[in-house]
Amino acid sequence: MKTITINTLSELKRGGEKFPVVTAYDSTFARLAEQAGIEVLLVGDSLGNVMLGYSSTIPVSMADMVHHTAAVCRGSTKAFVIADLPFMAYATAEQAMTNAAALMQAGTQMVKLEGGAWLAETVAMLTERGVPVCGHLGLTPQSVNKFGGYRVQGRGPGEGERMLEDARLLQEAGAGLLVLECVPRELGARISAELAIPVIGIGAGTETDAQVLVVQDLLGISARIPKFAQDFLAESGSILGALRAYAAAVRDGSFPRPEHSFN
Ligand code: KIV
Repeated sequence: MKTITINTLSELKRGGEKFPVVTAYDSTFARLAEQAGIEVLLVGDSLGNVMLGYSSTIPVSMADMVHHTAAVCRGSTKAFVIADLPFMAYATAEQAMTNAAALMQAGTQMVKLEGGAWLAETVAMLTERGVPVCGHLGLTPQSVNKFGGYRVQGRGPGEGERMLEDARLLQEAGAGLLVLECVPRELGARISAELAIPVIGIGAGTETDAQVLVVQDLLGISARIPKFAQDFLAESGSILGALRAYAAAVRDGSFPRPEHSFN
């Protein structure tokens, strides 16, 4: 695999080519994902759930994120790595800059943060200072207590329009990628079509520019497999085979299918 940059991902979107993203939390899985040709690795704060045994991402600390980001970056040399800023690590623009610097110095190429319009100024400050940013809209797990559970977002009156406006504002502020989580299929399609930057879906339907899955979900080893995931290990017989099958299915559009979507 050649070295992947944000320009590679923008070109894929312009060419209408879908690309796979997978979470990675350690150097072994980072190496395997890269060997499988997966362009983007996400050091998600989902590590709180799947690696550390918490019931949400809220307890995840900056120390956790720096530790796992550095491990992933030691295991991967070519993939594009995104690392999550955890809960309350970007409550102010100043905190965002200090904490993003720590993740960049641990080796990530981009930081991800959850939220819409209220983050536009922070995104502009980060990108102006050389920190690439990925936005995250829809079901943003750090706000689970505000949502009253892990619920599909964007279904209520006017919610889809507001999310589209948030997406536009993040893009205008300089975000280079956007994750869209658990939104109706039509909304995922609309936001992906309206934005120039690549939109990475998870439970956001079949039409987004890229897909992300938590690696434990695609291996069928999570405590609870979400509706939008598929067990690629069952059909492939090895972890490397499962990662390759996932990457191929995203690229040829056979994953996700309509049954993985919300309507
Ligand atoms: O933390 C994470 O793994 C994520 C993905 C689910 C998008 O943010």
